[in-house]
Amino acid sequence: MYRKGIILAGGTGSRLYPLTQVVNKQLLPIYDKPMIYYPLSTLMLMGVREVLVITTIYDFELYQKLLKNGNQWGIKIAYQIQEQPNGLAESFLIGKDFIKDNSVVLILGDNLFYGDQLPSMLKDLSNKEGASILACPVSDPERYGVVEFNSEKKVINIVEKPKNPKSNYVVTGIYFYDSTVVERSSRLKPSQRGELEITDLNKSYLDDNLLNVKLMSRGMAWLDTGTHESLHEASSFIKTIENRQGLKIGSPEEIAWRNKWITDQQLENLSKDLNKSSYGEYLIKLLEGKIL
Ligand code: DAU
Repeated sequence: MYRKGIILAGGTGSRLYPLTQVVNKQLLPIYDKPMIYYPLSTLMLMGVREVLVITTIYDFELYQKLLKNGNQWGIKIAYQIQEQPNGLAESFLIGKDFIKDNSVVLILGDNLFYGDQLPSMLKDLSNKEGASILACPVSDPERYGVVEFNSEKKVINIVEKPKNPKSNYVVTGIYFYDSTVVERSSRLKPSQRGELEITDLNKSYLDDNLLNVKLMSRGMAWLDTGTHESLHEASSFIKTIENRQGLKIGSPEEIAWRNKWITDQQLENLSKDLNKSSYGEYLIKLLEGKIL
């Protein structure tokens, strides 16, 4: 199924102050690359080639400078501004003209996914009708949208940041919707915290029996970057795996090249701009066939 992608990369990042007082959260480093490379790579691994980046008026130009129009990676990237952090579901109102009558996948700019079966699992979800979300077990469910199950393990409710979570499964920051998402989002009312809640959007699909909730297995990682602690842990995680395997996680250049969206020559040109860093050296090793 053809699906466009949206990366939401706005917000105030206030939980990470002073780190994010002048730099947008999704531009912060996760080990050797900017945070937004990871969700962008997740979309690319699923085969998504048309992406809208939604960010703030202050950070708009920085993202354009970093990601350009996507052509260098064989994709198309467009940009739009969110005036205020009015909630995740506002993405679909801002992105209305981009979505048109297509299906869409939203990924939060601060969400990192990692795992062997991930691309194929996401491709499967992408081919489903209605809406699909991924739920992951965590040790601190009260910080997220929590999934409630009945005794037959059927999803019966999703509750945003409950004081007493009914399960340890929470909704991750990747959401697949059909083209009714724009109309459904326009019907949402701001919550008590003044936001158009993605949880309310998911509940509208759940009420219509159109919400598919996929539970992530233990072999996959969903990393959070919401606190100083988790930000550091995400960097350590990426560093540990990259250094051990000698492979990079979340490199748009590599994914584009392996997907045959760019040629050897294009990869070589990209690596020249980066050749003073280990990242650039890695791209050259790929080209030389030293990394399979
Ligand atoms: O990460 C998954 C969680 O994301 C879900 O489990 C929750 O159900 C969902 O509500 C959301 O949790 P938070 O509300 O705590 O998300 P947060 O405010 O941290 O925003 C997530 C990212 O989106 C963050 O990088 C900032 C960006 N953002 C957020 C809002 C509200 C925007 O760009 N614009 C916004 O309006």
